[in-house]
Amino acid sequence: MARILLGVTGGIAAYKALEVVRLATKAGHAVRVVQTPASERFVGRASFAALTGAPVLLSEFERDPARGAFPDQPAPAHDPLSHLELVRNADAFLIAPASANTLAKLAHGLADNLLTSAALAATCPILVAPAMNDAMWANPATRVNLELLRERGVAVLEPATGALGSKGEWGTGRLREPAELLAAVEAVVPTGAPRPLDGLRVLVTAGGTREPIDSVRYVGNRSSGRMGFALADEAARRGATVTCVAANVALERNPAVEYVDVETAAQLGEACAERFGDCDLLLMAAAVADYRPARPVDDKLKKHAAALELALERTDDVLAGLAAARRPGQTIVGFAAEHGDGREAARDKLARKGLDAIVLNDVSRAEIGFDSPENEVTILTAAGERRVPRASKGEVAAAILDTVQEALIREEYKSGDGAPGAAGPRSAG
Ligand code: CTP
Repeated sequence: MARILLGVTGGIAAYKALEVVRLATKAGHAVRVVQTPASERFVGRASFAALTGAPVLLSEFERDPARGAFPDQPAPAHDPLSHLELVRNADAFLIAPASANTLAKLAHGLADNLLTSAALAATCPILVAPAMNDAMWANPATRVNLELLRERGVAVLEPATGALGSKGEWGTGRLREPAELLAAVEAVVPTGAPRPLDGLRVLVTAGGTREPIDSVRYVGNRSSGRMGFALADEAARRGATVTCVAANVALERNPAVEYVDVETAAQLGEACAERFGDCDLLLMAAAVADYRPARPVDDKLKKHAAALELALERTDDVLAGLAAARRPGQTIVGFAAEHGDGREAARDKLARKGLDAIVLNDVSRAEIGFDSPENEVTILTAAGERRVPRASKGEVAAAILDTVQEALIREEYKSGDGAPGAAGPRSAG
């Protein structure tokens, strides 16, 4: 159970904030709502008050009948300043929807209404869920404001792409779904029960790299990113802090996961190298190109000759490079896509690349593996093998993390060999 302060700003998506409150209270959280005056034109405070069972405030000058207390708290004897007391009591402050106007105010430290004053006074985690028209989202002013907020530790729950509020409009700017917003809040607040990967920092790679031939064509592969995203989701659900390096993945994003988008093997290598030192577990699910066009051209190739020969050169093996630079206490899991029974080839990769485990799947079968919602894998470690029968990629991700948790992280932790310390899994000790 957590105390969630929800800030609602003016936008059509304000109606979705009602569902956030409904889900949060159903999950046992205590919720208070503050609104900007503009948001009341979209959703009235009576609706939020009914769902939270607490007064809803719009102005810093109005008296709070609950005196800054959340529904699970007794009200204090004195009348506190509501914008200070509400954030002092809150475990997290979620602003959803966050309009471009409020984001700009937050970025510049303005405190011209109750919501922005409360945000300025907040020391709890702040999460903003922007929702706006796609042109406003793309505006350089909005981009800079969001960057400033991110730099200051505000979590930005990126809007989704789809139908927007105004009739017929489509683009990026849709508020994330209420369940996703709640999951993101729950990921940053103490919910009570410890989770198996609490405190663990996980780096996941997902998708398939694209190596340019010219300005419009590339050499790529059929990886959709589903397996990597399922691993990122599952690790976050288990309490880990997850960064996902995504190579050309067009799937829904989880607000509880941080994503770094890349296109090529070289970019993926750079993104991983920057973050690997800070991670405890690397799950290398991306299909990384082994070769790239040796001389990509900047403009578009013309079809003059009857045939075109493409010279390819080797890329760096990102996984092997990271494994060679690992520090004690880091766990590294690679993936091997093979045709048929690839156990011998996978064992060879496990040893050659210096991994703790390798997840093998048979890409000769159309019903599992690349771009399919299901998978069937064998997890190989130095200690043995575990076959995970055909199941959804979410279930396979859970099985992979079970194995990693039991066989690898615990071993590392128990051996005291570079124990993850404060960043280590709480339940592993
Ligand atoms: N990988 C990588 N960098 C590359 C190629 C692969 O990090 N340039 C990683 C993949 O993310 C995967 C693992 O290495 O986790 C296995 O990839 P694979 O291409 O199957 O292995 P290779 O050693 O390249 O062997 P093969 O000859 O079968 O291609």
